[in-house]
Amino acid sequence: FNVPIAVNEPVKTYAPGSPEREEVLTVYKNMFNSKVDVPLYINGKDIETGNTRTMSPPHDHQHVVGTYHLAEKTHVEEAISTALEARKKWAKMPWQQRAGIFLKAAELIAGPYRAKMNAATMIAQSKNIHQAEIDSACEIVDFLRFNVQYMTEIYMEQPESTSGAWNRVEYRPLEGFTYAVTPFNFTAIAGNLPSCMALMGNVVVWKPSDSQIYSAKVIMDVFKEAGVPDGVINVVFGDPVMITDTIINHTEFSGLHFTGSTFVFKELWKKIGNNIHNYKTYPRIVGETGGKDFIVAHKSANAKQVATAISRGAFEFQGQKCSAASRAYIPSNLWDDVKNYVIEDVTSFKMGSPENMENFITAVIHEGSFDKLAKYIDEAKASNEAEIIVGGNYDKSKGYFIEPTVIVTTNPKYTTMCTELFGPVMTIYVYNENDYSETLKLVDETSEYALTGAILSNCRYAVEEAVQALENSAGNFYINDKPTGAVVGQQPFGGARASGTNDKAGSAQNLLRWVSPRLIKETF
Ligand code: ALA
Repeated sequence: FNVPIAVNEPVKTYAPGSPEREEVLTVYKNMFNSKVDVPLYINGKDIETGNTRTMSPPHDHQHVVGTYHLAEKTHVEEAISTALEARKKWAKMPWQQRAGIFLKAAELIAGPYRAKMNAATMIAQSKNIHQAEIDSACEIVDFLRFNVQYMTEIYMEQPESTSGAWNRVEYRPLEGFTYAVTPFNFTAIAGNLPSCMALMGNVVVWKPSDSQIYSAKVIMDVFKEAGVPDGVINVVFGDPVMITDTIINHTEFSGLHFTGSTFVFKELWKKIGNNIHNYKTYPRIVGETGGKDFIVAHKSANAKQVATAISRGAFEFQGQKCSAASRAYIPSNLWDDVKNYVIEDVTSFKMGSPENMENFITAVIHEGSFDKLAKYIDEAKASNEAEIIVGGNYDKSKGYFIEPTVIVTTNPKYTTMCTELFGPVMTIYVYNENDYSETLKLVDETSEYALTGAILSNCRYAVEEAVQALENSAGNFYINDKPTGAVVGQQPFGGARASGTNDKAGSAQNLLRWVSPRLIKETF
């Protein structure tokens, strides 16, 4: 299995005056000041349904950057039948041909499409350039490159054979078609979910998030140019319930690859369960969902390091990473120093539109998210169990801007310690430095989720105690670091409990869910 050795795409810095900064700004301005029209993409054709919705950047919600077309039920049915037709050839294609397409897609993104991918992510999702770069330039490329390597590892896994008999396994694609439902928060995840299923020989209907259409369009442009054949990945936008029901009610539906909310994932799972007698095969269900990610500091930790984990872990991309820290447990002996460092850090963050490259914080994704966050901030202002030590202001007149906000609570079960907010609001509980073991128990019991978490400590015994006490509390667990920023090929990503099926994104384990192995025994 000779494939290119997968390497992580180096992150560019976009330093003032650098050519990459000039290029991305030019592309951003061109895209921002023109209008794009995004059709559905079915069987290799752009489908304009005429029923359109406008797209606006979250940081400038009155400014229209384009429109996208909404599918009717018949379009979704066409996407399914087209995919099933394409499967006849695609599933028989030698893996080298499929790998070649997605390796080419990786190089297109790393090279000629890099600025466009980043600019689209800055416009659609209001990422600052550094957050866009690690996502829509690097992580997506890493997924594409590493998945090819993982695919070959899967194919290499073969049973023993003895003389007189030869056992071999064919890792065939799933029978039927698959469904990718992708989130707004990572362009890389949006690209990975459909492409990794297609890489394994499957055909896909892909429904991107309404808040990520622009970057989804650029991904699809790349896939087309890389040579994904007609019908292998079909893109539909529109009413999520109609789209999902049409897909899940189909007898040949054979896999759901989902990243989004816990609520929606459970609803989809229920629908699949209710339909189980109608399928040809048991559908595979893979999902990464919510989180209430934590930071715990031990009394031996370094206060500055704890503060940095909080301010970076909670506020990069406005706290909208699934991995973002949103609750922290700080020992009383460190609190004064941690508090001062956090306030110093957070007040230094500049907030505004992403085209100003000095801005660290930009807008949250939409009005619904803004209103929800504002409500929790107002409640904290009025509560006698909570105090806002930095931030707390918000303004949606031009864009959905929420200041990075730190709430300190005296109640470890205060609403914002338990509820997923998905925004730039961090809640801290200060515990008695001698109550470390009890606090670890509290961390585990406070949330139904188990996505990411971090322990900061300079005492090995305390680290080991946390590793054991929190063994089921986080699928990605970080020692002396923030809980965000998993890199493909290094920290495969995913969580359990209400956070998902823990089929790590960027791993052979995930790709294995998209094959249906056939064992062949031949006797001589
Ligand atoms: N790679 C993303 C992170 O860990 C999901 O923040």
